[in-house]
Amino acid sequence: MEESAWHLVAMRDDEVLGYGRLNAFDSRLYGISQMVVASAFQGQGVGRQILRKLIAIARDHGASKVQLSARTHAIPFYRQEGFETRGGALSIRQNRRGACTDGEAHLNRYMPAWGHVDWASG
Ligand SMILES: CC(C)(COP(=O)(O)OP(=O)(O)OC[C@H]1O[C@@H](n2cnc3c(N)ncnc32)[C@H](O)[C@@H]1OP(=O)(O)O)[C@@H](O)C(=O)NCCC(=O)NCCS
Repeated sequence: MEESAWHLVAMRDDEVLGYGRLNAFDSRLYGISQMVVASAFQGQGVGRQILRKLIAIARDHGASKVQLSARTHAIPFYRQEGFETRGGALSIRQNRRGACTDGEAHLNRYMPAWGHVDWASG
């Protein structure tokens, strides 16, 4: 399968409020990246709308899993939309003096699988 990407831009009038990208790695595995909301519009639900829309696009295309890498401060934002940290994977960046700056976490969101059930009649 050729890799596909969706670029979602949230706008009000001519103003860009936020952006997020979705990539299809294969028919079941998708990835979200580059999530950002302009600082003046953060905390107003724009990021959640972008994230939900990207998840919906992945679901509509048959994704069973969506993965992303996030800065640790943003983990609660993604957890609210069903993402889980992958096996506790967490890498912490350090500055030149060895002090911890922000880290990066890897998160997954699993999509429910819908099976087909044949109900026996009678
Ligand atoms: C992280 C970011 C994309 C979230 O977008 P946003 O529009 O500010 O978030 P929303 O207003 O949609 O927030 C949705 C929920 O997540 C929570 N949330 C958002 N950012 C959060 C953060 N950094 N830490 C904890 N919770 C956060 C909100 O409080 C809100 O929860 P509530 O409904 O219970 O109040 C945005 O703040 C941003 O671009 N930050 C700077 C760049 C960045 O960190 N990008 C992400 C890199 S992984």
